[in-house]
Amino acid sequence: MRSETAPAIRLEDYQPPAYRIDTVHLTIRLHPSETEVVSVVSVAPQEGTGAGTPLLLDGDELTLSAVALNGRVLAESAYFVSSDRLEILAPPAEPFELTITTLINPDANTKLMGLYRSSGTYCTQCEAEGFRRITYFLDRPDVLAVYTTRIEASRQDCPVLLANGNPVEAGEIADTDRHFSTWHDPHPKPAYLFALVAGDLARVPDSFRTMSGKHVDLNIFVEHGNEALCGWAMDSLKRSMTWDEETFGLEYDLDVFNIVAVSDFNMGAMENKGLNVFNDKYVLADPETATDQDYANIEAVIAHEYFHNWTGNRITCRDWFQLCLKEGLTVFRDQEFTSDMRSRPVKRIADVRLLKSHQFPEDAGPLAHPVRPRVYHEINNFYTATVYEKGAEVVRMLKTVLGPANFRKGLDLYFERHDGDATTIEAFLACFEDATGTDLGQFALWYEQAGTPVLSVKTEHDPVRGTFSVDLAQEIPPVPGQRKSKPVLMPLRFGLVDENGQDMEPGAVDGIEIAGDVMLLEQARQKVTFSGIPSKPALSLLRGFSAPVRLDQNQSEQDLQHLAAHDGDPFNRWQAVQTLAMRELLRLTHLSRSDEALTPSRSVIDVFGKVLRDRELDPALKALALTLPSEADIAQEIGKDVDPDAIHDARQTFRREIAASHSSALRDALTNSMPSGPYSPDAEPAGMRALGNRALHYFAVSDAENATEIVWDRFRSADNMTDRIACLTLIVHDAMPQKDEALNAYRLRHENNSLAMDKWFMVQATAPGSGTLEHVRALRSDPLFDETNPNRVRALLQSFATGNPTQFARMDGAGFEFIVAAVLELDKRNPQVASRLLTSFRSWRALESQRCALAESALLKISSCEELSRDSRDIIDRTLQ
Ligand code: TRP
Ligand code: ZN
Repeated sequence: MRSETAPAIRLEDYQPPAYRIDTVHLTIRLHPSETEVVSVVSVAPQEGTGAGTPLLLDGDELTLSAVALNGRVLAESAYFVSSDRLEILAPPAEPFELTITTLINPDANTKLMGLYRSSGTYCTQCEAEGFRRITYFLDRPDVLAVYTTRIEASRQDCPVLLANGNPVEAGEIADTDRHFSTWHDPHPKPAYLFALVAGDLARVPDSFRTMSGKHVDLNIFVEHGNEALCGWAMDSLKRSMTWDEETFGLEYDLDVFNIVAVSDFNMGAMENKGLNVFNDKYVLADPETATDQDYANIEAVIAHEYFHNWTGNRITCRDWFQLCLKEGLTVFRDQEFTSDMRSRPVKRIADVRLLKSHQFPEDAGPLAHPVRPRVYHEINNFYTATVYEKGAEVVRMLKTVLGPANFRKGLDLYFERHDGDATTIEAFLACFEDATGTDLGQFALWYEQAGTPVLSVKTEHDPVRGTFSVDLAQEIPPVPGQRKSKPVLMPLRFGLVDENGQDMEPGAVDGIEIAGDVMLLEQARQKVTFSGIPSKPALSLLRGFSAPVRLDQNQSEQDLQHLAAHDGDPFNRWQAVQTLAMRELLRLTHLSRSDEALTPSRSVIDVFGKVLRDRELDPALKALALTLPSEADIAQEIGKDVDPDAIHDARQTFRREIAASHSSALRDALTNSMPSGPYSPDAEPAGMRALGNRALHYFAVSDAENATEIVWDRFRSADNMTDRIACLTLIVHDAMPQKDEALNAYRLRHENNSLAMDKWFMVQATAPGSGTLEHVRALRSDPLFDETNPNRVRALLQSFATGNPTQFARMDGAGFEFIVAAVLELDKRNPQVASRLLTSFRSWRALESQRCALAESALLKISSCEELSRDSRDIIDRTLQ
């Protein structure tokens, strides 16, 4: 026996709704276990809807108390109701009003979808299909209505009452200890953007004046005591608002903008109109508890949610297949924001690393899907790296293909033409076609085809004729269930680097269209010839990672060394170092598997010395260049018959060799990378800390007698979380003698701060070494660990499964069994968290045969389970298919 797979939802089956809902008046009487929701909706049949066509409303775990039509209680024969739908069998042909009363239980809502409580605070999460857990409704993004929300609650328990839009009225409810607050959102919106929050929260106020001079009240609501941790988030919000005005001419459109931080949240944050709800880890920060990375994440997520106000809310999605319409574009916008706030090349490298480590493996495994999927069983499982990160890459390519001015023209037209619409990728692309007169037919394939294209490159220099030719071939590897892929339009930014490190100016170019420094590859195979090239250049291709492809280019070590030292494009300088390191790591992994001695290549180790000693290189870039590809990156590159232990061995050997060969340069980097003055999360001091801690990462395993002492001293004297957690990671992962003492000291210091304790759990879960699994098992019953909180689960279980390749894939299968058991337990409480954890198996088929068999038998346990959520059933079916 096994649970049923949910029916497939297909893009091709899309039908516009038969009925409109123009206004919604909600009255929500909050109670921990019996909240009453009265929803008054004005309904009208769409043109062409036949008289008496049944009105089918969505529900999920609802209890209906009453339903009335135009104020009159409906006879039971006039409707059908169950917990997951309400069908009005023969509605009037004229517009009518429905009054639906439901009863819901926020305290029993462990899925964290719909109305639930987090540390006593009532909050909602309606994307994608959570509104139907509050009331029966046409819960689909192409039904846009104007909402008025009246919240009633105990004044004592919930002094703060918030909903979307602007506040219109508030007061006491006579003869009770309750009060109410009414909110009105004038902007029509789909139900997934509805939100309410009620609780005893502290308010951090500020304000903003928009470019047209309108005053906006800004507030961040947090648990009492956390007020002092909101400064960075507020600052980020104001900078985001200014940036969107200056960059895209987009202004905020309500009198208030509220942000609420909650501690129990399935994802990062949610862009509800005028009332963004955040996972508190993306709001709260001070130097004592947040790292530089945390500060950067907060800035990016605050911006992301704010930017959704235009890309997502004012213009929304017609259906969930179009999710990338809002997510890809909004990720692109937040990436650009960060690039302008910080260092553009550093941000680009960070984004590409994320893409390659998360999206590439997704695209190469059983969970692969196009940026715009054509079929789904459970939409929650499509909030993926492909929709978000590859979706952003596609928008970035659009900008590269069209050029910045034309890109802006197209976007302007999009905002003008589609404001107030629920629309599609086709309509989005049509704006760029119409504004610029460009045919984007082939470009659109990026949205349609799953799989990462492989770009194969061969070059030839003819010194006699002074020509340099580049043979380019693209192919998308076969994706199960997808017809053979067609060639895509690939923008390739490039340079021909001469022996002095300068870009050459070729004479004529033949065989490809070139715009500026970008070649446009259109066909499966094209040969480009540059003339006026007397001496052989080093080809620097895919500068800035101008297309999300795998590059198969057998460049000589000499060329790579040259580019690593001289490429004018900082991204490709970094890439050249990484490519050299990756090749060497693959060679060492191979040797390790055949039990041969591992001797890293001198010349590659020297590249790292050169990077370390480079006086020009920005510290943050230097830190990135000195970061070896992760074990997961190496596994992905190997692609099949993967042995995680051999990879770990190879990488550690390489690390030790860098440490042994460059100890004095490392020592210099260590001492020279201490930012002066009080802590600041800005890019420059953060970059210095990144370099210092990267140097320490090597120095810690050097032969220096006092290496561990230095790490330990730094740990104890650290005055910020970035340095403290960097040291703790080394102490624990390298199993230094002070390990237990350090973990205890950290725990004592931070036991009252769950976000800081998440780092403590994560450090231990990602420690290599054979005792880790038993240790993680024990930590699961630690009093500070709470399995009902998604952040805790991600810190301990998810980071073990995705950040500890050798211990997750232990040779006895115990790592797999442990995660499978956890998934089955979590699935009963919170399917979204469970199915996300289950995706950690997505590359199981790439493992060597013994581990692969162990993974399969663990996965079959899940598959044979009788009561599996729709979320986990979908993931397990696809993972095993
Ligand atoms: N729209 C949110 C974002 O990207 C994502 C999100 C937040 C979400 N909470 C969710 C998606 C719950 C699915 C379920 O900003
Ligand atoms: Zn988003």
